[in-house]
Amino acid sequence: AEGTLIDKYGRHITYIRLSITDRCDFRCTYCMAEEMEFLPREQVLSLEECLRVVRTFVGLGVTKVRITGGEPLVRRNVLWLLEQIAALDGLKELVLTTNGSQLERYAADLKRAGVKRLNVSLDTLKPERFKAITRIGDLDKVLRGIDAAAAAGFTRTKLNTVMMRGVNDDEFVDLVRYALARDLNISFIEEMPLGDIGHGRSNTYFGSDEGLALLTPHFGLVPTVETTGGPARYWRIPGSETRVGFISPHSHNFCDSCNRVRITAQGDLYPCLGQNDAMGLLPLLRAGDDDAPLREAIVRAMGIKPKEHNFSEQLDAPKVVRFMSMTGG
Ligand code: GTP
Ligand code: 5AD
Ligand code: SF4
Repeated sequence: AEGTLIDKYGRHITYIRLSITDRCDFRCTYCMAEEMEFLPREQVLSLEECLRVVRTFVGLGVTKVRITGGEPLVRRNVLWLLEQIAALDGLKELVLTTNGSQLERYAADLKRAGVKRLNVSLDTLKPERFKAITRIGDLDKVLRGIDAAAAAGFTRTKLNTVMMRGVNDDEFVDLVRYALARDLNISFIEEMPLGDIGHGRSNTYFGSDEGLALLTPHFGLVPTVETTGGPARYWRIPGSETRVGFISPHSHNFCDSCNRVRITAQGDLYPCLGQNDAMGLLPLLRAGDDDAPLREAIVRAMGIKPKEHNFSEQLDAPKVVRFMSMTGG
């Protein structure tokens, strides 16, 4: 039933982000530590369990589902899950966030499975730099993946760029040009403190206002009220369909209008990204086929959704211990 999930601040939860694996074939420096241990298989939701979680949420009024990771496309049989989710009654939008490494291979199948839109991480267009940021990624493969997505019929694909001073801030203009040339959207993201990645994040912090000021003279950005249902604020480039977004957890807090919760690959429901408390759904899933306890736990979890995160004071001392790869952002 529409609108059943309401938190104690009156926010309607209609959007879930489900991480289907904690594993990734990249090791982005802002996301992971150099050495990572991944979850043992038995602690990870099976694809059937993932589907049951999503079906339960959709039954509670959720209309948008974003699949994340880790890297979701490294999960075996991911297409089966996507097809099943896309076919759920009541779901309006199935979308996916990916690092693009497997897109060349998967794009056409994702389209066929019913995925509506893709977000692809892209922090740089320089191969050497790409290697430095992702530790193991191959830029060329990702760029081929982005083209494959377009060839498969995906429109309004969105690039995600984490803004990092002294790392990629000399490329923001080039990244927007790249997006513009391909009729893509692009979002610039303020880095958030999730997990101990072995170094602080304040030295490289780069805020949205500065990003906007840097880009505006090049592209004549015009603010719009459009939204993709996520946290980004968007600007238009006149004469094009390209939207430039800014996701500004530090400088323009958007918690007031939060409409989402996330579920990790091990079935932990986190009502907020900036939270250590979770509602563990795995034991309920494995206790039996009755969905009622699962539904009740989800409704109860809305009561622990905090009013807002306080990431800004944590750039060099993250209070959230899990890595970004656990919740997929
Ligand atoms: P759409 O608007 O549907 O395109 O999705 P999105 O931009 O929200 O999703 P995506 O997975 O591409 O995430 C982009 C960035 O937004 C990531 O860095 C996420 O961590 C961040 N993000 C998404 N939701 C939230 C949120 O609720 N809180 C915070 N602080 N960041 C979020
Ligand atoms: N802060 C902000 N964004 C991050 N991402 C990964 N780690 C962080 C972080 N610490 C981004 C990725 C991906 C998106 C889902 O989240 O680049 O595009
Ligand atoms: Fe993988 Fe995405 Fe984390 Fe990079 S940011 S390591 S691509 S999950």
